[in-house]
Amino acid sequence: MQTLVITGGAGFIGSNFVRYILRKYPDYRVHVLDALTYAGNLDNLATVSGDPRFEFTHGDIRDAEIVDKVASRADAIINFAAESHVDRSILNPGAFIQTDVAGVWTLLEAARKHKHERFLHVSTDEVYGSIPEGSFKESDLLEPNSPYSASKAGGELQVRAYHKTFGLPTVVTRGSNTYGPYQYPEKLVPLFVSNLIDNQPVPVYGNGLQTRDWLYVLDHCQGIDLVFHKGAAGEIYNLGGGNERTNIEVVGLMLKYLGKPESLIRHVTDRPGHDLRYSVDNSKIEALGYQPAASFEEQFQATVQWYVDNQDWWRRVKEKPTYQDFMQTWYKERK
Ligand code: NAD
Ligand code: TYD
Repeated sequence: MQTLVITGGAGFIGSNFVRYILRKYPDYRVHVLDALTYAGNLDNLATVSGDPRFEFTHGDIRDAEIVDKVASRADAIINFAAESHVDRSILNPGAFIQTDVAGVWTLLEAARKHKHERFLHVSTDEVYGSIPEGSFKESDLLEPNSPYSASKAGGELQVRAYHKTFGLPTVVTRGSNTYGPYQYPEKLVPLFVSNLIDNQPVPVYGNGLQTRDWLYVLDHCQGIDLVFHKGAAGEIYNLGGGNERTNIEVVGLMLKYLGKPESLIRHVTDRPGHDLRYSVDNSKIEALGYQPAASFEEQFQATVQWYVDNQDWWRRVKEKPTYQDFMQTWYKERK
């Protein structure tokens, strides 16, 4: 029996990963540690909350006492907990330093003390910065451009140091832009799909020609699972979707699947420091056996349909003051 601490397990990718692990490994236990920030939502874990192999602790990854207690009864930590939204990092960078850098250090200390078998840190392809052509390899320079990506890079470098200095058996994944069920509706896909369902306009930053490499959330889970079980200690693995699309192409697909008119598109003031293109080379993770489960179009259409079928879920989130305050502050500046 393995017990995994999954931090940030009440968020988007973390909650999908909890379900994935409990389904795939009948002899694993999962202990979620989550601070339930604006992005954490126990509704995301409703389908597993009754599972005897599941446990939840409400706590902050910066709280050394709680982290130590949870880590003392586990074999490994998989760290999803983070402040994760670029636009919020422009408004309030300090929260990102706190969780994405200092929080990672607290987890590393506990993993070291309790001699964990594995420490998987979930990072992002945004740590490389933007690339005009070609794709980043794991050995390329880190040139992050937003307070979010710079904080994620800072956290990752702590992970590297704990491997080099203390021999902690760490692995890091650098996932690309992820979409799927239960994503907080501030990110492009759930924000736009939920707006379009209500015939509300969608705010495209600048000309909408920025490119992202879209990764379905269950493929992201598959990649983390592979790296957790088969990755070499101290190594970093890119985890891209292999589906580069401009934002305007992605919006076009949403309009098509929902049967909505182009007149709902609004081009608004661009995000400062906006990265034009992300692209990663997946060869290293492919050598571990990584392969997306289905085509982008199938997975994207299924995702749009999930938001059509689960309106209660996102309407409850969108009603909250923490959601509305951010939306009003940020989009007031984007005309
Ligand atoms: P999310 O914002 O949906 O969820 C983050 C979760 O972390 C929430 O449940 C929140 O309550 C929790 N959390 C935040 N601060 C915490 C703290 N101090 N202590 C404990 N819990 C805390 O994020 P997500 O989109 O699911 O991303 C998960 C991870 O994957 C992040 O590390 C992110 O950087 C990384 N990532 C995300 C994407 C993407 O496209 N969403 C792509 C690549 C990598
Ligand atoms: P986002 O989902 O915030 O992810 P990231 O910034 O981590 O890539 O944004 C994806 C792309 O969509 C990015 O190029 C910014 C753009 N975008 C908009 O054009 N309008 C919006 O309202 C949002 C939230 C994002």
